[in-house]
Amino acid sequence: AYTAKIGPSILSSDLARLGSECVRMLECGADYLHLDVMDGHFVPNLTFGHPMVECLRKSLGPDPFFDMHMMVSRPEQWVKPMSAAGANQYTFHLEEAGMKVGLAIKPGTTVEELAPWANQIDMALVMTVEPGFGGQKFMVDMMPKVSWLRGQFPSLDIEVDGGVGPDTIHRCAEAGANMIVSGSAVIGSADPRSVIALLRTAVSE
Ligand code: DX5
Ligand code: ZN
Repeated sequence: AYTAKIGPSILSSDLARLGSECVRMLECGADYLHLDVMDGHFVPNLTFGHPMVECLRKSLGPDPFFDMHMMVSRPEQWVKPMSAAGANQYTFHLEEAGMKVGLAIKPGTTVEELAPWANQIDMALVMTVEPGFGGQKFMVDMMPKVSWLRGQFPSLDIEVDGGVGPDTIHRCAEAGANMIVSGSAVIGSADPRSVIALLRTAVSE
């Protein structure tokens, strides 16, 4: 009913080489790029905004799918700038401006709070760490949220983000996640191609 897609989180890459890191991940078999936007308010960290996305779009061409994870206090402020910059999916806002929409929940938020929106969104993102930083420990106790969503919404795209890698992918796959964000485990690996292939196989089998 659903398709496995692997999206490296470029937060874990050398940001001075962002463009070539994205190209490297795509060449290694990534299905999409997960772009973490942080504003220093919603989370205690700061990354980049639509000007960076625009540069990436110009440099990478029309094909790569940009999955925007908006960890910002006023997501509505950036819907149009992100769309204009070439984003393809906007997590945490209602559908607008030709982008798909994802809705994210922090670890402390119950899945029942997201459920009323599930029929109106393209993707649900179940955070498996407190948002803000790459390289944190996977929270396995989020998996019941994923299983519950998969049971209720068989064809919904369900994404997991935070601490996902070869050691934790099986729990995500079992629970029914199909969009797999992986930062440090993919980008920090000496062999990202194998890690991406392994993640895909785990979700596909
Ligand atoms: C954290 C970000 C993640 C992060 C994941 O708030 O949303 O996308 O980059 O990195 P890892 O896979 O290292 O936990
Ligand atoms: Zn993210």
